[in-house]
Amino acid sequence: MEKRQSNGIGFMAGKWPLTAATSTLVFIHGSGGSAQFWTAQVQGLVAKANTLAIDLPGHGDSQGDGHNTVEGYTAAIIEFLDHLDPPGPIPCGLSLGGAIAQQLLLDQPDRFGAGILIGTGARLKVLPAIFEAIRDDFEGFVGMITGFAASEKTAPAVIRRFQNELARCSPEVVNADFQACNQFDVMARLRDIRVPVLVVSADEDKLTPPKYADYLESVIPQTARAHIADAGHIAPLEKPRAVNQAIMDFLDSHRL
Ligand code: COA
Repeated sequence: MEKRQSNGIGFMAGKWPLTAATSTLVFIHGSGGSAQFWTAQVQGLVAKANTLAIDLPGHGDSQGDGHNTVEGYTAAIIEFLDHLDPPGPIPCGLSLGGAIAQQLLLDQPDRFGAGILIGTGARLKVLPAIFEAIRDDFEGFVGMITGFAASEKTAPAVIRRFQNELARCSPEVVNADFQACNQFDVMARLRDIRVPVLVVSADEDKLTPPKYADYLESVIPQTARAHIADAGHIAPLEKPRAVNQAIMDFLDSHRL
């Protein structure tokens, strides 16, 4: 794996340089996360496609501030893609990253041949208690969000990785991320997505319950669905093999 920077955005690549003949999976993390969240995907899918995981502005190794709108993050990714120009980019996002992936597919319909949406929804209203905890007790927030985000069956070491990542992000940026989720709503626009989309849900996801994925699946015209057992909101970290298999099957079935 290679850690690099382009146009102020930090990213992790499964191989470098990228191969012109294959698509590029562009992994986008959720609120308070970083490219590290996707290590198992960046490594595990590199034989199949180019793999890039980015740090959103204000996160990980990226410069700049966090944004409190999905549009703000989307504009930053478009600039990054303009600069790097990876072959056949496929946005693949979790939660806030999934909102950004939807926005990319809607705003730049000719740029992407497919999309992958994991643990996300067309609308992402946030519990007021989450904002209160970020404001009043950030350590308490990290504990609370972990309780919501992971399955009870998930190993403590996996949960610690998630918590450590969150704790590295500033409360201001985490707050902006959740504000961006809270104002996101593309329910009325999803029909306009014209490329194949893989929708991934998990049976114990309390933050974006499977009914959000049901909606994505029913409204986006061309979808494939994968449902991950014994995982919560952070399924790519909790069940990397099952998530990677779903992505490989999707890429194979569409010759991507
Ligand atoms: N896809 C499909 N349906 C959705 C949806 C989505 N993305 N978002 C909301 N809905 C549905 C809800 O299920 C609800 O349907 P119901 O009336 O049949 O139960 C309806 O739309 C309205 O829900 P919502 O917009 O969420 O408003 P609310 O005031 O009822 O609830 C919360 C607000 C915050 C309590 C609720 O959204 C919630 O529990 N969210 C999950 C926890 C969270 O904070 N997640 C963070 C996401 S990043």
